[in-house]
Amino acid sequence: RQNFIIAIDGFSSCGKSTVAKALAKKLHFVFVDSGAMYRAVTLYFLREGVDVTNAEAVHAALANIHIDFIPNMDKIQILLNEEDVSEEIRTMYVSEKVSEISTIKEVRQAMVAQQQKLGRRRNIVMDGRDIGTTVFPDADLKIFMTASPSVRAERRFAELAAKGEKVSMDDVKYNLAHRDHIDSTRQESPLRQAEDAFVLDNSDLTQDEQLSIVLQEYEKRR
Ligand code: C5P
Repeated sequence: RQNFIIAIDGFSSCGKSTVAKALAKKLHFVFVDSGAMYRAVTLYFLREGVDVTNAEAVHAALANIHIDFIPNMDKIQILLNEEDVSEEIRTMYVSEKVSEISTIKEVRQAMVAQQQKLGRRRNIVMDGRDIGTTVFPDADLKIFMTASPSVRAERRFAELAAKGEKVSMDDVKYNLAHRDHIDSTRQESPLRQAEDAFVLDNSDLTQDEQLSIVLQEYEKRR
């Protein structure tokens, strides 16, 4: 393989996307937020009222879903069947259901296949839960990010508040703990630290510090 693959996994709101984006920008790699894909699928399922207990309905829905990432200025837009859903997929409405939808085997198989395709012949940074374990088990650099629960809850709360979403700190804390629990206990590719992952606890690190640590790891492996 000629291309370089960086996999970043970890619990919810550990700042994975922030590091992944900064890294991709610095190295001129493609950045893929795999969580955004599960969020887009969830939005579709919610809108269409897909019965998740009906395998045929799930299968049919997945066949109708097309997800695109469009770089636009400093942002990356997520398109669900040509519609820009970048904002809507970050609402609590989607966050409350995404982990449940992400346990469905057919959903994961479809997403993993797309993610692997995105990493073909490209230098890529992908963040998620199962990137270093399932999507790219042979990734060149694997990072497992952690941060203390209170730091994570504060970050997510600030993010939602900045967007004007009225949520309580308790709701945010509950949602994070709930998603982490579902994500790490599901049957299909649960969230797990890959054995060969570099662990980055960023509870007390600035974004610049995180980037330089990760760049050092990259330099060691390239
Ligand atoms: O990364 P983000 O928090 O946006 O992901 C939302 C949810 O999508 C996660 O809580 C998890 O349930 C699911 N997900 C997943 N596998 C990934 C990325 C996200 O199951 N690779």
